[in-house]
Amino acid sequence: MSDAPKKLHIKTYGCQMNVYDSERMAEAMGVQGYTLTDDPAEADMVLLNTCHIREKAAEKVYSDLGRLRPFKEAKPGLTIGVAGCVAQAEGAEIMRRMPLVDLVVGSQNYHRLPEMVAAVGRGERPVDTEFPAEDKFERLPERPVQARPTAFLTVQEGCDKFCAFCVVPYTRGAEISRPVARILTEAEKLVAKGVREITLLGQNVNGYHGDGPDGSWGLGRLVRALARIDGLDRIRYTTSHPNDMAEDLIAAHGDEPKLMPYLHLPVQSGSDPILKAMNRKHTAEDYLRLVERLRAARPDLVLSSDFIVGFPGETEADHQASLDLIRAVGFGAAFSFKYSPRPGTPAASRTPVAAEVADARLQELQALITAQQKATQLSMVGRKVGVLFEKPGRLPGQWVGKSDYLHAVHVTAEGIGPGTLAQVRITASAPNSLAGEVL
Ligand code: SAH
Ligand code: SF4
Ligand code: F3S
Repeated sequence: MSDAPKKLHIKTYGCQMNVYDSERMAEAMGVQGYTLTDDPAEADMVLLNTCHIREKAAEKVYSDLGRLRPFKEAKPGLTIGVAGCVAQAEGAEIMRRMPLVDLVVGSQNYHRLPEMVAAVGRGERPVDTEFPAEDKFERLPERPVQARPTAFLTVQEGCDKFCAFCVVPYTRGAEISRPVARILTEAEKLVAKGVREITLLGQNVNGYHGDGPDGSWGLGRLVRALARIDGLDRIRYTTSHPNDMAEDLIAAHGDEPKLMPYLHLPVQSGSDPILKAMNRKHTAEDYLRLVERLRAARPDLVLSSDFIVGFPGETEADHQASLDLIRAVGFGAAFSFKYSPRPGTPAASRTPVAAEVADARLQELQALITAQQKATQLSMVGRKVGVLFEKPGRLPGQWVGKSDYLHAVHVTAEGIGPGTLAQVRITASAPNSLAGEVL
């Protein structure tokens, strides 16, 4: 074996938790002498960190694997691995359909990646999709120097909610919360390395219930403890379920200035019969009341959400109820998806809505969301907002960062670098970003 540094190419699909996991896998392989490359052609190992949430996302993995074939032919020693939620859900099928794949590692087994790569070296094709008892994060190496001012930190994983459309409870397993002390230590180390904003991640992050020094802590208490870390300026969390918005977390939005005034709170539908069929266990009215309580705590809170259109059984009246809910809330942004049947989920066997009907509803819903997004952005013009700058923009002297409300903001100014937190007057709104001047 040569000692030349080896190169690892990772492609990440899906949610922010996969982004976090990809970083941790890069660190684990870094200890084995691998450095990252953006170019699969020069890689010794390619890892696809996959997403199973909708059919398109899962099928993309197979077409991307097909595209790796010439690289494998050019370099037979190339190791190809599949990680993430497709690996978890259909590991055996990947191995059968795709002989070029050398290893499959499920979402809870990333700490085993180095030994699996060693097994590939011995001519094996390992598959590990067990849900082990140990915590993968405690078995992964410590996170090295961060070059960026923002970081993700996974605090909770898995989901026990079993919405009728969703694969996450199967691909990520049961809800697990990491202990408070480990999260605080990881956050302190990130801040010591220059991170100024941390986004706490979990599939159901506001259901967090981690072991603290004096019993179980909820997310509100965790946020308040993190806010005491000097040098950490901003805290966010995603994704939340409406049924787990505890009183102290709502209160923290009002009295903890480091908790940013933006909340992603998926509702999926505005129709009670559809919410029931989805097994969401809340009504549209429950959601509206919750939004009222959040806005009572933090009047300028910007809300975003997720919607599914064309869920089995959805009538025109159900669809109109979703539009009504959107009009009643006024979202700053939202993601909307056409329902995609997922094997093994309860809704998969129900009669689907005709594709053209679902397409038309999706367009109508997206047009309303786009109008609300535009209105929210325009409401920022003239206001003074905090912006954490992350990187240079495309124009000379330009910098790009995120506002408190998570809008991308461009400025042209001297003396700004990654990690500069400044007050900015917003001067204009473009389709997907704002422009401003530093005060
Ligand atoms: N844990 C989060 C998000 C999970 S997945 C939550 O509870 O909201 C992100 C989004 O994908 C979901 O909010 C939902 O809108 C969408 N989604 C999940 N399964 C889907 C499916 N089968 N078809 C279409 N969209 C889906
Ligand atoms: Fe999926 Fe979210 Fe429902 Fe859990 S709460 S099953 S992750 S949509
Ligand atoms: Fe996709 Fe898995 Fe995230 S299915 S959305 S990568 S939890």
